[in-house]
Amino acid sequence: MALEDAAAYGETFAGIYDAWYSDITDVDATVHTLNELVLRGSISLELGVGTGRLAIPIAKLGHSVVGVDASASMLARCAAKAPGPNLGLVQADMAALPFGGARFGMAFVAFNTLFNLTCGQAQRRCLANVVAALAPGGRLVVEAFVPSPEPTQRFYDETARSDGHGGRVLTTSLRDPKTQVVSGVHIHQPAGGPVARYPWQIRYLHPGQLDQLCAANGLRLQDRWSTWDKQPFTTTSERHITVYQLVG
Ligand SMILES: C[S@@+](CC[C@H](N)C(=O)[O-])C[C@H]1O[C@@H](n2cnc3c(N)ncnc32)[C@H](O)[C@@H]1O
Repeated sequence: MALEDAAAYGETFAGIYDAWYSDITDVDATVHTLNELVLRGSISLELGVGTGRLAIPIAKLGHSVVGVDASASMLARCAAKAPGPNLGLVQADMAALPFGGARFGMAFVAFNTLFNLTCGQAQRRCLANVVAALAPGGRLVVEAFVPSPEPTQRFYDETARSDGHGGRVLTTSLRDPKTQVVSGVHIHQPAGGPVARYPWQIRYLHPGQLDQLCAANGLRLQDRWSTWDKQPFTTTSERHITVYQLVG
């Protein structure tokens, strides 16, 4: 995939990302748990660093972090927050990482970002690239939603919410159970402003499918929680935080 295609999500959402998503998940609990999982003295890698919501506080704890993102606009917003010398930013497609050589102690991909890779081949390439860049015993941490049971046919959904400032956001999406791709659009009607459209697409994985992909790349399941503060993962959990460790 060309870098500009990989950058499409970020280029579309960079302008509203922090306003819409800065509190979408528990940043303190995420940073606390990732801080425990960092291989001391090594560099960590965040895939899809975005505006630095997670990488900046982790770097500020004194850890060296490299944040990869395909979107120049996302990276520019991250850099504008003056993240300090511990955070390096690299523009690249996470399915074609420009690293190798066993240099990272931990890689993490949060908030469904692995699903931004919209085909199985790209997801497989991404995991193989991560493994090539992980040090022996290194960890991969993935946070993602647990898909609801597969519908028997394509499933259309529509939701509406307040934007918190007197406007509305209507979201429509179409889920294809054959490809596991969901294509959607947020239509934002701000109070007194023009309507803006934010299209998006994801390819979701069930936790068992992710485990299989990781196992095929030598990553062993180490822990799985339903929240960043390590609540147990159960059959009714809607999200998972999964820690894999490179075998050997
Ligand atoms: C949902 S945001 C998450 C940002 C940040 N990790 C957070 O938790 O706030 C997904 C990020 O992944 C980036 N992204 C999407 N596809 C990508 C790809 N193929 N390679 C690299 N980055 C990608 C987007 O530009 C965006 O910044």
